Amino acid sequence: MDKFVVEGGRRLDGSVNVQSAKNSVLPLLAASILTERRVTIRETPAIADVSCMAQILRELGAEVSFRGDDVTIDSANACSHRISSALTKELRSSVFMLGSLLTRFHRAVIAYPGGCDIGLRPIDIHLNALKRLGVDITERDGYIFCECERLRGAEIPIDFPSVGATENIMLASVKAEGRTLVQGAAKEPEIVDLQNFLNAMGARVRGAGTDVIEIEGVKTLGGVEYLPIKDRIEAGTYLIACAVCGGEVEVCGAKPENVGLLLHKLRENGCKIHIKNDKIRIASYGRLKCNRRIETMPFPGFPTDLQAQVTALNSVCEGCALIVENLFETRFKYVPELQKMGADIEVKGRTAFVRGVKGLHGASVVAGDLRGGAALVIAALAAEGTSEVLDLSHIDRGYSDLRGKLKGLGAEIKRVRI
Ligand code: UD1
Repeated sequence: MDKFVVEGGRRLDGSVNVQSAKNSVLPLLAASILTERRVTIRETPAIADVSCMAQILRELGAEVSFRGDDVTIDSANACSHRISSALTKELRSSVFMLGSLLTRFHRAVIAYPGGCDIGLRPIDIHLNALKRLGVDITERDGYIFCECERLRGAEIPIDFPSVGATENIMLASVKAEGRTLVQGAAKEPEIVDLQNFLNAMGARVRGAGTDVIEIEGVKTLGGVEYLPIKDRIEAGTYLIACAVCGGEVEVCGAKPENVGLLLHKLRENGCKIHIKNDKIRIASYGRLKCNRRIETMPFPGFPTDLQAQVTALNSVCEGCALIVENLFETRFKYVPELQKMGADIEVKGRTAFVRGVKGLHGASVVAGDLRGGAALVIAALAAEGTSEVLDLSHIDRGYSDLRGKLKGLGAEIKRVRI
């Protein structure tokens, strides 16, 4: 198991390139088995979740080959519709495989999915939607068994704009008979990316990015070579790291409109933001001011995946901040670790009350989940003295070469095997 050793207090300066979006690439990998033709996804990030998804595809009988950052999936010989519980439990996104497997084989068996421990994460919306498409679902011994004679297009109103459920419906309905209408769909940029990918394969999907998505079932889907969108959460993480540490950083690749609310909040803190095409330049000098209130919401609201990082930021700003987490019940688990570094934060249910302190001090902390782990690294970069961030397995799930990229910006950070 590895750890980061961070010598805090360095300014960050320079420029950093953003990886392809984890939350795009994972559903695109799931979508690759919709066709027997070859699919190439370009510039995939070197993260553990991608390797795990590749393992799942191999387990189904697909050939998955990496050439540099590009991954090619040839699922002509895929024959299995069953994913072992070891892999399903490692990766929440394995739930997307339900929609893809049903389209490809009309059958799917998966264990209840895993992922970050940030709350209950039920999949009732996914399963109810699949039922409306004509799928029979039974659950026993921790496994979900799905089966259908054929998939039939349907009107699917969803109660909450779940990202994964919206994507699963798209994957299950691309070849369904007739038209599917998703009402109350999630509007995340990654859903638009999935629509573009599916349409490049020959699907007929429109409306992604709005709350109504229409899918007209097609008979066949072809191969595709596709470049996914960039990772707005990774981009946000580097912007926040610079805000906390001070300095001037250019974050290249991510669409500024996909991090619009974060940029607004960073300006509120007192950072200067300059946008030129897909380059976001941030300058941060002196002590920043707390945001009065940040509340996580489905897109275009403030992303829950940046909640931990902005809490770390506010913990060293002047004043007080209220951070409200509306998506996941237990997404403040990193707070006790931040407290070890001197942060003054009180959590009550879904709300964190942050009283900004003048500075943090180095400590030994454990990264218990992906984004909470990123927040601890950010805090360690700003803290006085040496910190160690233990258990990098969650951080490795979502950030390609976090150490190298931060080092490139001037951070003192080492990865050490223990
Ligand atoms: C996706 C993202 C994740 C992000 C989250 C919210 C991927 C791979 N992951 O996760 O990084 O934090 O969106 O933006 O894209 N819910 C139910 N029943 C369901 C499905 C969801 O109650 O069937 C609830 C969840 O418990 C949660 C909320 O809906 O409270 C949002 O979940 P959802 O949008 O589905 O998130 P994921 O797709 O799991």
